[in-house]
Amino acid sequence: MISFDPASGVFLLDTPGTSYAAFVPDGDGIPIHVYWGPRIGAGDARYLAFKTAEQFAVEWPCFRSPANGHEEYPLDGRLQFGRSALSLEFPGAIRSTEWTLSGHEIDENAHDQELRLWFDVSHHDVSVTLHYRVYDDSDVIDRWVSLCNDSASEAVDVHRFDSAAWVMPEWAVHRMSHLTGRWAAETQLRRVELTDSRLVLESRRGITSHHANPWFAMDDGTATETYGDVYSATLHWSGSWRLLAQRELDEPAQVLLGWGQEDFGPRRLEPGDRLQTPVSSGLFSARGHGGASHAWHDYALRHVLPSSHEVRPVLFNSWEATGFSVDEAGQRALARQAADLGCELFVLDDGWFGDRASDRAGLGDWRVNTDRFPQGLGPLISEVHALGMGFGLWIEPEMVNPDSDLYRAHPEWTYQFEGRQPAAMRNQLVLNLARLDVAHWVLGELDALLSANDIQFVKWDMNRPFADAGWPGEPDRQQRLWFDHVTGVYAVLDALRTKHPGVAFEACSGGGGRVDLGMMARTDQFWVSDNTDAVDRRYIQHGYSQLYPARTMACWVTDLPTFINKRRVPLAYRFHVAMAGVLGIGGDLTAWSAAETAEAAELIEVYKRIRHVVQLGRVHRLGEPSRSASAVQYVTSDADEAVVFVYREAQQYDSLVRPIRLRGLQAGGRYRLDGGEVVSGDVLMNHGIAPVLTGDYASTLIHLRLVR
Ligand code: DGJ
Repeated sequence: MISFDPASGVFLLDTPGTSYAAFVPDGDGIPIHVYWGPRIGAGDARYLAFKTAEQFAVEWPCFRSPANGHEEYPLDGRLQFGRSALSLEFPGAIRSTEWTLSGHEIDENAHDQELRLWFDVSHHDVSVTLHYRVYDDSDVIDRWVSLCNDSASEAVDVHRFDSAAWVMPEWAVHRMSHLTGRWAAETQLRRVELTDSRLVLESRRGITSHHANPWFAMDDGTATETYGDVYSATLHWSGSWRLLAQRELDEPAQVLLGWGQEDFGPRRLEPGDRLQTPVSSGLFSARGHGGASHAWHDYALRHVLPSSHEVRPVLFNSWEATGFSVDEAGQRALARQAADLGCELFVLDDGWFGDRASDRAGLGDWRVNTDRFPQGLGPLISEVHALGMGFGLWIEPEMVNPDSDLYRAHPEWTYQFEGRQPAAMRNQLVLNLARLDVAHWVLGELDALLSANDIQFVKWDMNRPFADAGWPGEPDRQQRLWFDHVTGVYAVLDALRTKHPGVAFEACSGGGGRVDLGMMARTDQFWVSDNTDAVDRRYIQHGYSQLYPARTMACWVTDLPTFINKRRVPLAYRFHVAMAGVLGIGGDLTAWSAAETAEAAELIEVYKRIRHVVQLGRVHRLGEPSRSASAVQYVTSDADEAVVFVYREAQQYDSLVRPIRLRGLQAGGRYRLDGGEVVSGDVLMNHGIAPVLTGDYASTLIHLRLVR
């Protein structure tokens, strides 16, 4: 429910469990945030707006501006001393934006409502709209902003244009949880206390990045997994971005979230042009970090991920088995083994096209290599289908190797600065997908590939960040490429999905370099890390689960020792970690022993019985990953079924696992454990279970079903 009271300028957004209120003072100011938390009434919102206005009206000492930190969307200029969400430069180097509320509109849709607040920028023919959307079935609030240059002659330079400013409560302590990382170590959860200063998390790489993820969760330092108020927000965007948390003494903390990196030159908005930010979504949860994750996962599955009701198949991927050494005979052999194990989808990774004998050549030449596949992919695909599996193919469409026919024909299609040699990474350059002709070419190649071959799955990879992001001959469009590349990728993916609705997509960027809700809206799962070491993965998966649901988290069981850190972990442990997401197999099956194959086949069978719980259920993180025992649990929405994975990396003194208290079960219910013993939900939740684990890298899976 959304309401707007023109007399007081107060608007109130109600979600099923929360309220969010702000007001526009006298219609000609920046909206001031007044409330976000459990449900309140419209009268309460007006009262809070009145009290805030009263507080602002007293005489404030010089050097302080009462509204700072409270602005719903801070503008550059006037008495705004923090960082602004919108920073425009008008002709004559004028950097001050003033505006007047010109009207509002509320759209009632079947399952959501949208509020639009229209502002006319004073002295210029420019208008800004603040958009808010709430849903009937989620406490998540979507925000975005659009900007229109209505002038017939004046261009406007856009220095900063964030999606939202999220105002935090006036706590003494603001503890911010965020995700950091690097290649092979993505989504590492960190919690830091904000000081009276600014904290910037960002990607300057043209992709979401392995190094930070556009998400935060704020609490007052006391929230736990199951208790406390947690405010969090994210951004639906797959290119460079910035998250800026600012807090000054006696001011509330405010978090700005938007596209484009820090110190990014202005983007010119020509007369008649319109620009719209990506969505930033925010959430208040009174049920701790776990409760926040549940609400995010529900939102992602209901409102972001396409076809989220389907469980994902168990796939086999060839990359770690064969690297670039792919040929028809080798892939057929792997496919037979994969089918015997119970895999449902066979994915041919890198190496099937052009002169792709290594990472030095071939990218851009999306023709089947006929030395390796003499009759094209048809015979392999037919065999894979005959074995009862779907067929998937790897591509990296935004890239080109200088050693490729594409580059020889179109060296001007890559990002580069005039007269400079662009720096290669992994021997490849980034194609300029901001160019319509290049985006069309990519779409044409992929469409042809999907039309000519019976393909059910595409792994879309992206293996280097942007650098030398220039566009020779188009200096005016250079700033735009950071945005237009991403929208170019979105447009190609959207067009492919429309034309080939039976094809599922996996988003990959050298592992988890492009995990975000923008990409999630047009793909079916993420390859979350190239690191398949089961121990490292537990930390990566723990961080990933803060915002993203298990249904999107592709995990493979691979060979020993793992290529990242040479660790040797038992097969069951590797499976139990990968089974906590969308299970896949990535090892060289031709080298697996009969005993390993039999164990793997059995575990895949078990996974198929429990995957609806993992992929579509609710996750309960029963502790942080650690070397001693820790566990993760999944429960179906009706609490009829649950799955618990318990892991212990290293045992000491032959100690027993202490009872692990489960969550989210039916209190009065009785559950059968692994088809045997029956235990009450009360005992399981209030006392816990203590599985017996022996040795290092020990793990177990417990499947609980409600006894009717
Ligand atoms: C990086 C991906 O993350 C890997 O899984 C694999 O697809 C390679 N690229 C192939 O080059």
